[in-house]
Amino acid sequence: MSQLDYPDPDLADDLVRLRRWRLSDLGCVEEASLDPRIPEGTSVPARYTEADGRAWIERQLSRQPEGRGLSLAIAEIASNEAVGLIVLMHRKMPGTAGVGYWVIPRARRAGRSTSAIGLLSRWALTDAGLARVEARVEPDNEPSLRALRRCGFVTEGILRSHLYLAGRHRDVVSLSLLPVDLA
Ligand SMILES: CC(C)(COP(=O)(O)OP(=O)(O)OC[C@H]1O[C@@H](n2cnc3c(N)ncnc32)[C@H](O)[C@@H]1OP(=O)(O)O)[C@@H](O)C(=O)NCCC(=O)NCCS
Repeated sequence: MSQLDYPDPDLADDLVRLRRWRLSDLGCVEEASLDPRIPEGTSVPARYTEADGRAWIERQLSRQPEGRGLSLAIAEIASNEAVGLIVLMHRKMPGTAGVGYWVIPRARRAGRSTSAIGLLSRWALTDAGLARVEARVEPDNEPSLRALRRCGFVTEGILRSHLYLAGRHRDVVSLSLLPVDLA
């Protein structure tokens, strides 16, 4: 798959702006590290230190130039404060990317991840020319499934024991969004 460039201008709606990470976003990384579900499923450090937080932000910034996809901060539209992450990860199949995301607990339940998933997935399938954006979600992650379905993602089925996380094999729901679903 060809390398993704950052969206230009930033993708935004009346709730969020998806922008590049900044070293001043350390507070968001620290808050994310305090929610056990985020470090369990991502590279966010489980025990936050400033050095680990900086290294994490630098890894997000290296994803695009190294051809590993795109990592963007989900920022509040009014203040530009980072309150979450959304990432597109290249898959082996050409034209295909996986989407991942989290929002810090105090910013949840206000539609921010739904906005971010909708903005980035639509852009990926139109401006960036991808053929498929896919997501894999544990069956009990109701907020994540609801956000994806609200953005038009279609459930494909259950991948049994697909994920090995924190010492346990887990089923995941596989969902995808194709250009034809955007109509
Ligand atoms: C999943 C997550 C990203 C959702 O973020 P969010 O910004 O709170 O999501 P939204 O506000 O856009 O809400 C999405 C939907 O879930 C619903 N929802 C949100 N929190 C909920 C909860 N605790 N219980 C039930 N439904 C919930 C919302 O009502 C909305 O559904 P609706 O549009 O049908 O009303 C967030 O909970 C999170 O970061 N979790 C930990 C990391 C994670 O699981 N990431 C996804 C991995 S696949």
